[in-house]
Amino acid sequence: MSTKQPLLQPIKVGDLELSNRVWMAPMTRSRAANEGNVPFDIHVNYYKQRASAGLIISEGSQVSKQAVGYINTPGIYSQEQVEGWKKVTQAVHEEGGHIFIQLWHVGRISHPDFHNGELPLAPSAINPHAKSFTPKGFKETVTPKEMTIAEIKQTVLDFKNAAKNAMEVVLTA
Ligand SMILES: Cc1cc2nc3c(=O)[nH]c(=O)nc-3n(C[C@H](O)[C@H](O)[C@H](O)COP(=O)(O)O)c2cc1C
Repeated sequence: MSTKQPLLQPIKVGDLELSNRVWMAPMTRSRAANEGNVPFDIHVNYYKQRASAGLIISEGSQVSKQAVGYINTPGIYSQEQVEGWKKVTQAVHEEGGHIFIQLWHVGRISHPDFHNGELPLAPSAINPHAKSFTPKGFKETVTPKEMTIAEIKQTVLDFKNAAKNAMEVVLTA
């Protein structure tokens, strides 16, 4: 393939100088199969292997315990998770790559099995009539609990905290 291809040319995005325009889309891998949903060696290797992309966008990562809704997705709300992401980010940077984290709260796509039997929180009490990928396999979604104003405010804070954690990862990786 010719290296003159536009796709392989560098591009500046904000403050970042990306080596090419191939960006990896966020893809859930469900591999944070440990107590705290902490990214570990398997994540380090997976993202390191893909660091020649101009930009990696990580798999969706929950901003709080409440935000989870797919099995074994990593989080970025605990210090342990932050330390895990530091190892991932360091490995990507060592290979000359860049990585963004996708912060998520999956809302009504979650399932009571993730919340000790309690209803998942969502903007409205409307069942999406979809499948939720739970630790016991695919299950029908339920009608979620509509968030109170206090719960909405807490969710905003959870995103803020997760973004701060992501900044800590970048600044110290
Ligand atoms: C295995 C798999 C996991 C995915 N996980 C996520 C995810 O965590 N977050 C997200 O926003 N999209 C996710 N997606 C959607 C992809 O990012 C999406 O397919 C990609 O942007 C390509 O867009 P397209 O399917 O419209 O072509 C996932 C897709 C696949 C195949």
